[in-house]
Order: sequence, then C-alpha cells, then structure tokens
Amino acid sequence: MALFGTAARPLLTALTGAHAEACAALHGTVFAQGWSALEFESLMAAPVTLGDAALDPRSGVLAGFALSRGAAREAEIVTIAVAADWRRRGLGTRLLDRHLRHLALAGCAVVFLEVGAGNEAARRLYAAAGFVEVGRRKAYYAPKPGLAREDALVLRRALQGPG
Ligand SMILES: CC(C)(COP(=O)(O)OP(=O)(O)OC[C@H]1O[C@@H](n2cnc3c(N)ncnc32)[C@H](O)[C@@H]1OP(=O)(O)O)[C@@H](O)C(=O)NCCC(=O)NCCS
Repeated sequence: MALFGTAARPLLTALTGAHAEACAALHGTVFAQGWSALEFESLMAAPVTLGDAALDPRSGVLAGFALSRGAAREAEIVTIAVAADWRRRGLGTRLLDRHLRHLALAGCAVVFLEVGAGNEAARRLYAAAGFVEVGRRKAYYAPKPGLAREDALVLRRALQGPG
C-alpha cells in the first residue's frame, strides 16, 4: 500500500510575488550571486515571467521553484532550484516537467537556458528532459573563491504546442 511517502510529496503550484522572500533565501543558498527578494518580486511582476513553486506539504515552506522569462515564442529558464533537503527525490524533474508544460500552454515553442559546465546534477536533469547543448560561453560564470571561472553551456529544447 502506498500510504507512506505519497503524503510527503511537495505540492506544485504557481509561483507568485508572495514567494519572493523564500525564493531569495533558497537562491542565496545555491548561487554565489543570489538575487534579493526585491529582484524576485520585480521579476515575477513582469507579464513575460512564468513561475512554478513546490511547497512542503506539511509546513508550506518553499521546497523548490522554476522561473522563466519569455519573448515571442521563445523562453529562457532563468533559474530552477530545489532545497537541499528535498533533492534527489524527483522534485526537480516534476517541477521542470510542469514548467515546460506551462511554457508550451503559454505559446512558447522553444526554451533556452544556461548551466555551469561543472553542474553535473543540473546537466543530467536537463538531458533527461530532452535539452541539448547548442553553445558554450567560455569563462562565463564568476569564480568561486579559489576556483577558475566556469564555462556556461547553452541548452535548448523545442516544445510541443497545446494543439
Ligand atoms: C539541479 C536540481 C534542481 C535537481 O533537483 P532534484 O530535485 O535533486 O532533481 P531530481 O531528484 O528530479 O533528479 C533528476 C536527475 O538529475 C540528476 N541528479 C540530481 N542530483 C544529482 C546529483 N547530486 N549528482 C548527479 N546527478 C544528479 C540525476 O540524473 C537525477 O535522476 P536520478 O535520481 O534518477 O538519477 C538541484 O540539484 C538543485 O537545486 N541544484 C542547485 C541549483 C542549480 O544548480 N540549478 C540549476 C541552475 S542552471
């Protein structure tokens, strides 16, 4: 019986300005140059932004999110992040699937994103979702202390429209 485990699955919902503080906190734990709550708020207020959130089913705390910006029929996934406690449990995959479906419904035909060449976890997540490498930006990311600058890979995936 699947009584255990299923109840603990994070709930997926729309990302809104109300999540800005939590996004900034989560983003700051992952990226050296995190964005402030104000930056997230203004990003989410833009009509071209689309976001999905995953909430801890017990506490309602943000467990992960995905955020994109669109223009015409193209979108860029600006960021996707899962809180450390929730990683490697399929949440990144669920969030990305839902996000791609929402982008397609919004009329988006192609999605791009940039990922650090050394970010094995994210690269595998995107490869499994059908993204392919279409470019490389040399020494694109600012160095972490004691490390060299990191290349960014540009990934692309076509989307199927709703009809
Ligand atoms: C990338 C990230 C969103 C993945 O979230 P997640 O919830 O752990 O992803 P999933 O559990 O759905 O894993 C999907 C696949 O990604 C790969 N993966 C995830 N974590 C991994 C790790 N630590 N090492 C290697 N592969 C990993 C695996 O192929 C995994 O499939 P598997 O578990 O069947 O082997 C998460 O690691 C994260 O938030 N990282 C920090 C933020 C970040 O780098 N975002 C991307 C910016 S471009």
